[in-house]
Amino acid sequence: MAEDLQDIRQQALSQISLLSSPDEIEEARVKYLGRKSALTLFLRTLGSMDPATRSQMGAAANQVKNDIEQSIAQREQELSESLYAGLENDRVDMTLPAADDRLGHLHPITRTWMLIEDIFQRIGFEVASGPEVEWDKYNFELLNMPKEHPARDTQDTFYLTGEILLRTQTSPVQIRHMESHTPPVRIIAPGRVYRRDYDMTHTPMFHQFEGLVVAEGITLQDLKGTCSYAMKNLLGEATNVRFRPHHFPFTEPSLEVDVSCNICQGQGCRTCKQTGWLEMAGAGMVHPQVLRNVGYDPEKVSGFAFGFGIDRIAMMRYGISDLRMMFENDMRFLKQF
Ligand code: DAH
Repeated sequence: MAEDLQDIRQQALSQISLLSSPDEIEEARVKYLGRKSALTLFLRTLGSMDPATRSQMGAAANQVKNDIEQSIAQREQELSESLYAGLENDRVDMTLPAADDRLGHLHPITRTWMLIEDIFQRIGFEVASGPEVEWDKYNFELLNMPKEHPARDTQDTFYLTGEILLRTQTSPVQIRHMESHTPPVRIIAPGRVYRRDYDMTHTPMFHQFEGLVVAEGITLQDLKGTCSYAMKNLLGEATNVRFRPHHFPFTEPSLEVDVSCNICQGQGCRTCKQTGWLEMAGAGMVHPQVLRNVGYDPEKVSGFAFGFGIDRIAMMRYGISDLRMMFENDMRFLKQF
C-alpha cells in the first residue's frame, strides 16, 4: 500500500514538472487531486483498514497530497514568471522615435529628363530613341561629318572598332528617325552620350536631348520660338534666351543658344564667367545635304534641330556646381533632392 502511494506521488510530480500552460495546470489539479484521482480513491480505502495502519497510511497519504499541491503551486508560479518574462521582452517603448523608413526618389537627372519629355509632349513632340553603341555612319557621316572632317576632333570619341563607337551626341537619332519616317516629323530624343572628357563640367558619360522638326515651311523663327518656350518652362519664366551664330556641319545656318545666368540673374558671376549668359545648346536649320542623305527633298521640306545638355539643365535647376557629383552615387548628395 505504501508503494501504491509512492507510485501516485512519483507519477504526479514527474508530470507536473512538464505542464506548460494554465489550462494544463487546472487539468492536473483535477487529475491528481480531484474526486476521481488515484489519491482520493486511496483515501477512501482508509476506512476499511485497521486503526494502526489507517493512521500510518492516512499520514502518508496527506503528505503525498501536500507534495502534489505544492508541486502544482510551484509549477504555476514558474509558468507565470516565464510568461511575464516573454511579455517583458516583447514590450514596445512607445516613447522611442519611429524607424526611419525613408522612401527612395528619382535622380535629379531622371527628374529633369522626365520634365523635358513632358514639356515637349505638350506641344506635340514625340519621344524617339536610338542605340548608345552606334555606327560611325549615323554618328558622323550622314550628319555631314565624313572621315577626316575637322569637326570630329571636338568630339573625342570612344571607338569600339573602326566603324562602331559609343555615340558622342544624340544627333544620330535624327538620321535614324528620318530614315524610317516621312515628313512631317517632330521629335525629341533624350539619351546618354559618351566622350573622352573629365573635369568639373565634363564626365565621360553625360546626357543630351536632341530636337528635330521637319515639314514644309519650317523657319528659323520656329526654332527660336521652340527653344525659348522650352527654356522658360525648364528654368523659369524670367529666363532670357539669346542666339549666337556658330558652326555645325549638319546645320546651316547654325546657332548656339544661351540663357541668362540664373545664379546672378544676368549680373555676371563665377558660374557664367562674368558674362551673365550660359551656353545651353547647339542648334540650326537642318543642312540640305543631311535631308538628302535620308531621302528627303530640301526643295520641298525644311527643318530645324537642336541638341541640349540635360545635365546642364539639372545643375541649374538644382543649383549643383560640380557635374561629377551627379554620377558618384554618394547618398549624402542624392538624399538632398
Ligand atoms: N550634336 C551637337 C553636339 O553634341 C549639338 C547640336 C548642334 C545638335 C546643332 C543639333 C544641332 O541638333 O542642330 O555638340
